[in-house]
Amino acid sequence: MLVGKCIVVGVTGGIAAYKVPDLVSKMVGAGADVHVVMTESATAFITPLTLQTISRNPVSVRMFDPPGTWEVRHVSLADRADLVVVVPATANIIGKVSAGIADDLLSTAIMAAKAPVLFVPAMNVHMWENPILQNNIDRLRSFGYTFMEPAAGRLACGYEGRGRLPETESILELICGLFNEKKDFAGTTFLITAGPTREPIDPVRFITNRSTGKMGYGLAEAAVQRGAEVILVSGPVSIPVPGGVTLFSVETAAEMFDVVFENSHKADVIIKAAAVADYRPKHYSSSKIKKGTGDLSLEFERTTDILKYLGENKGEQVLIGFAAETDDLLKNAAAKMQKKNLDLVVANDITVPGAGFGTDTNIIKLIYRDGRIEEPERLPKRELAHLILDRIAGLTDFSIRR
Ligand code: CTP
Repeated sequence: MLVGKCIVVGVTGGIAAYKVPDLVSKMVGAGADVHVVMTESATAFITPLTLQTISRNPVSVRMFDPPGTWEVRHVSLADRADLVVVVPATANIIGKVSAGIADDLLSTAIMAAKAPVLFVPAMNVHMWENPILQNNIDRLRSFGYTFMEPAAGRLACGYEGRGRLPETESILELICGLFNEKKDFAGTTFLITAGPTREPIDPVRFITNRSTGKMGYGLAEAAVQRGAEVILVSGPVSIPVPGGVTLFSVETAAEMFDVVFENSHKADVIIKAAAVADYRPKHYSSSKIKKGTGDLSLEFERTTDILKYLGENKGEQVLIGFAAETDDLLKNAAAKMQKKNLDLVVANDITVPGAGFGTDTNIIKLIYRDGRIEEPERLPKRELAHLILDRIAGLTDFSIRR
């Protein structure tokens, strides 16, 4: 996917630098010509020799080392790049570029670059949350620099929180997306829900469903690649977060409703791929329910139908629902379209092998408002995601919305 692309990888001095060889190796495997520039601090974490061997190109560190050729190194690197990726990007490099400081080879090459620049920050959670850093990021964004949101989790410094370098695959996906020529959703905002919800019974138990989030995450990734701003509202899943999305993690249908309610006004397109629980236990037991000798009955109450709410309050938005069925697929899906005031329903019969929950492929039927039904062949969920986006692009003229 990266064949013929020249990528300058700038490595700065953070512990996440140890993950860069894997990223560079995958970039090279995808066909990219990778040139690594390291700051002096980065060499305290990994050696230039490692990255030179993996990238198969000389690694540059110091500004005034005698060059192997007559070229002015920072300019030649900057000129050659189709993309500059700064990974990991420390608060220091972000601050320097934001302030216009170019005092080493990397900051100078970034300054001289005409190509897009992607920063992939990784740092301590408190540094990440520091308003000075956030201000610098906003400022750089306003100049057209791209940032990838760090992942949340346990950090090398011992803290929990946002600041981890995202998974290599997610970084790679975002890079591939930046090269994607088709930016038909630039200037539009997507709100996508994905994954299951969990409805608690007691502190140790909950009811949920088999959704893995793959279809919704595939749609989010494809929409980012095609230039959209994406707000992803996700139930608990264990797949990597696509690069470039704004993620809201939720557990219950009620939490999902709240986040969707808060953000729906920003969206041009809403895709409800989440498998939301229709019922939740009526009474939550704050202490663990102990077993008795007889049967146990639980009472359930309805959750709010988020999609129905959106359909009832719909303006110019394009609203897409999912229908996972075991019987009467087309009839049930068409009824959902009417009941929830949808523009498109993505329906699948989850009893068919290779369709539905947990699979990497899906067999779908697309049902349009005018009654048209389209039946694409079985495809990987990622390819289906682009097909669904192609159809969404055909539903309205997105250029007049920008
Ligand atoms: N959905 C939702 N909120 C809910 C339940 C479902 O937003 N509380 C959305 C799903 O995200 C999906 C669509 O509605 O896009 C279809 O969900 P489903 O539960 O299958 O549809 P229902 O109309 O509730 O019908 P039934 O449960 O009878 O199949």
